Amino acid sequence: MGKERIRVYAWEFPVRLTHWLNVLSIVVLSVTGFYIGHPFSHAISSRQYIMGWMRFIHFTAAYLFLCSVIVRFYWAFVGNRYARWGALIPHTSRQWRDLVDAIKFYLFLSRKPPYAVGHTAFAGFVYLFIFLLYVWQIVSGFALYNLSAQTATSAALGGWLTGIMHLQTIRLYHHLGMYLLLAFAMAHIYIGWYLDSKERNGIMGSIFGGYKFVTGKEWE
Ligand code: HEM
Ligand code: HEM
Repeated sequence: MGKERIRVYAWEFPVRLTHWLNVLSIVVLSVTGFYIGHPFSHAISSRQYIMGWMRFIHFTAAYLFLCSVIVRFYWAFVGNRYARWGALIPHTSRQWRDLVDAIKFYLFLSRKPPYAVGHTAFAGFVYLFIFLLYVWQIVSGFALYNLSAQTATSAALGGWLTGIMHLQTIRLYHHLGMYLLLAFAMAHIYIGWYLDSKERNGIMGSIFGGYKFVTGKEWE
């Protein structure tokens, strides 16, 4: 209430761009992927090419997703401190303490919301897991892709996986990866909205404009 707030540039352009490209591609990959796994509408004439289009759109979105993930990973080496691996991997005693505090808050054991200028230690840790899930979707997806269209990219990114994992297991976990991402997305949007209403630091707007509004205490 009436507290001075500092305007901080938290999310640089590449972080915001890749966030929204990932959201867009995940939505497209989920709709088309769901159809590939469970074709709910069938062609009734030979001129209809429903599965063909679904697969084509899935693979196009897959390449977009791949490019976006590469850019984001590159940015984790060269970006600001809120974008770096260090913000995602808990490695300081302060991060571990914050992690425990945030879990207490989400379990309603504490009323103190987890303040941070960038990601909280907890959010960073969850995003690390999400990034690993991105890698899994890419590797397993290209393993499946390599069965019907062998390219240098698909062979390098996923072709080798069929040598160490049963094909149907890859399919199953590629499919389950989608549900994990969609479940995360729901919790993610809810938590973002909830934190926004508690912290009043403009977190929801920050992923569009990059700026957060933090109190002096948080900035320290
Ligand atoms: C498929 C859906 C989504 C996925 C997989 C996803 C994933 C992520 C990831 C990985 C980050 C970390 C950003 C980074 O360091 O690169 C992030 C941040 C963020 N996302 Fe999303 N996101 C999704 C949808 C959304 C939507 C629809 C909104 C808002 C309406 C949103 C709001 C935010 C905000 C505010 C942040 C930054 C704040 C924070 O540190 O928690 N996201 N998201
Ligand atoms: C967030 C990312 C992704 C999601 C949510 C997703 C989702 C899905 C789903 C649900 C299926 C159906 C699986 C089944 O039950 O048979 C599927 C199939 C497939 N996906 Fe993905 N996928 C993603 C990324 C990728 C990527 C990066 C590639 C790389 C090329 C890819 C390539 C494939 C291929 C080749 C198939 C099998 C197509 C066929 O049998 O005709 N996917 N995907």
